[in-house]
Amino acid sequence: MSLRKILIHPDPRLKAKAVPVETFDTALAALADDMLETMYDAPGIGLAAPQIGVGQRLFVMDCVKEEGASPEPMVLINPEIVWSSEETNVYEEGCLSIPDQFADVTRPSEVEVTWQDVTGKAQSAKFDALWATCAQHEIDHLDGKLFIDYLKPLKRQIITRKMQKLKREQARAG
Ligand code: NI
Repeated sequence: MSLRKILIHPDPRLKAKAVPVETFDTALAALADDMLETMYDAPGIGLAAPQIGVGQRLFVMDCVKEEGASPEPMVLINPEIVWSSEETNVYEEGCLSIPDQFADVTRPSEVEVTWQDVTGKAQSAKFDALWATCAQHEIDHLDGKLFIDYLKPLKRQIITRKMQKLKREQARAG
């Protein structure tokens, strides 16, 4: 396993639509392991492949936050939202590609998702609470959409300028 570099917004690779995964081999399993390791190391509760520069439709998540609780790592490949509740909720979202920036986003409070696991086997589950928000946030990444795209243009611009400044500083630091 190895840690992958997480891309920081703005980056064209974060705005591109990812392509479906077609080959379920050891390379895919290794990629999923790297993504989980990178997510836990960050630390974060979700990470989509485009965030490490891989334009394929998969993401990892683990929304268990209670101290001492067992981790529940999930790998979702070719995920699709097949049902969304009319009821919505609001979470203050963040993103590993937009460090230290947070904003309230309204989304359906429950979703049913279908996906394939690393062996290609079909899976489905209903998610609620933070898991639902996280799954929707990560699936958005696969379509080149970021949580700041839900914000008013001015707020989005302010955050984007902060990220441009952060990237300049990182580039100077080498
Ligand atoms: Ni994100």
